[in-house]
Amino acid sequence: MQFKTIIEPFRIKTVERIRLTTPEERVKYLQNAHYNPFLLHSNEVIIDLLTDSGTSAMSSEQWAGIMRGDESYAGASSWLRMEKAVQDLTGCPYVLPTHQGRAAEHLLYTRIGGPGRVFISNTHFDTTRANIEFSGATAIDCPIPENADPSLEHPFKGNLDLQKLEEQIQHYGPEAIAAVILTVTNNSGGGQPVSMGNARAVSAICKKYGTRLILDACRVAENAWYIKHRESGFEDKTYRQIAQEMFALADGCIMSAKKDALVNMGGFLALRDLDLAVQCRTVLIVTEGFSTYGGLSGRDMEAIAIGLDEVFESDYLNYRIKSTAYLAYKLHALGIPIMRPAGGHAVYVDARAFSPEIPLDQYPGQVLACELYLIGGIRCCEIGSVMFGKYDEAGKLIPANMDLVRLAIPRRVYTQSHLDYVAEAFSELVKHRDKKTGYKIVYEPPFLRHFTARFGFFSV
Ligand code: F0G
Repeated sequence: MQFKTIIEPFRIKTVERIRLTTPEERVKYLQNAHYNPFLLHSNEVIIDLLTDSGTSAMSSEQWAGIMRGDESYAGASSWLRMEKAVQDLTGCPYVLPTHQGRAAEHLLYTRIGGPGRVFISNTHFDTTRANIEFSGATAIDCPIPENADPSLEHPFKGNLDLQKLEEQIQHYGPEAIAAVILTVTNNSGGGQPVSMGNARAVSAICKKYGTRLILDACRVAENAWYIKHRESGFEDKTYRQIAQEMFALADGCIMSAKKDALVNMGGFLALRDLDLAVQCRTVLIVTEGFSTYGGLSGRDMEAIAIGLDEVFESDYLNYRIKSTAYLAYKLHALGIPIMRPAGGHAVYVDARAFSPEIPLDQYPGQVLACELYLIGGIRCCEIGSVMFGKYDEAGKLIPANMDLVRLAIPRRVYTQSHLDYVAEAFSELVKHRDKKTGYKIVYEPPFLRHFTARFGFFSV
């Protein structure tokens, strides 16, 4: 008999206290944080859905691995274990450990990027885009058109638009294309999966034009769940085999281990091309650390090797995807406009549809993120015009394609009642919707402004 209730497939061995703040305290905390949830202190937050990155609970096996960590400077056994785990999964012979995903991005994209170079992706994540643009290169997003409609159901809404990909390659000329980057799952595009069919077609186009294909693989296990359950021909394959098949299509990959390797810190770059690996390795040694630890402790590498195995366990992945879908289902039932279908690691709320009265240059996503904090102490992240907006020459905001608010679910951390609490906060928010104006930015840095921007009220 198959039970309908999906339980957390783990028992809790260690607990971490959550301080339950009052609404009055939260008004003060948010003011001190300049209305930017990134600037809140964690003990001011009840449920932290800011990110699923580096926030996983490690297993007892991983903690045991932490104790076994070999901290030798060169050739540590923990490095050899991590290297083998990455090689087995990705099929790439050259593995470079880094302290997190963006360090791997920096190593690779500053080598192959630079002025005049072009990168094309289903959607570049913010640090990916920042590393590319920082090198002087151009980053172009080509998601399928269905991705732009948050309410539209599509099984693989993270796919890359194949026609646009070819048009862009022809427009810039294949020699100008530094890489095509397939982000699985497509985080900035709503945490939506990419089908194997799409990945195969992208790979074929890259081969046709002699262009490099890089997988941004930080949620590759979650992506594999969707392929097994939504794409025909994969029913009998394991999640791991599906991921391996996807890696086999690419020339290399970047992975932030802080997501699907179930650790709090770490990442890697894995490549098939020795020359490129040697170039990146030289910079790795200068900026991160020796090539057998990068920016990592031996114990971190041990935990990554174990996490890369655990993440493909079918009970875990099933719970992971279904529990995110549970929150999406509850919010949908309340009439909250969410990105459909639910993504793997997060539920994305369509803030433009939630607050149509707020003009886009008053950042409706930021308003919703702040209101959720005030009402329930829930911290989440705007993925919209604060994160991706640009200014035209007259200084007027060019808004992002969408204004989403991401409720990212840390792995193995929160239980069903925590998610019920989040849904209840939304139901309260719907009852108390009286805010008509939004925010203006009063301070912003030149790159990645959402992390440190400060906001003030937009006066009417
Ligand atoms: N690529 C994607 C698709 C990501 O989601 C992230 C991080 C990175 C690269 C960079 O990895 O943080 O280890 O340097 N995403 C986090 C998030 C920050 O909240 O979605 P990193």
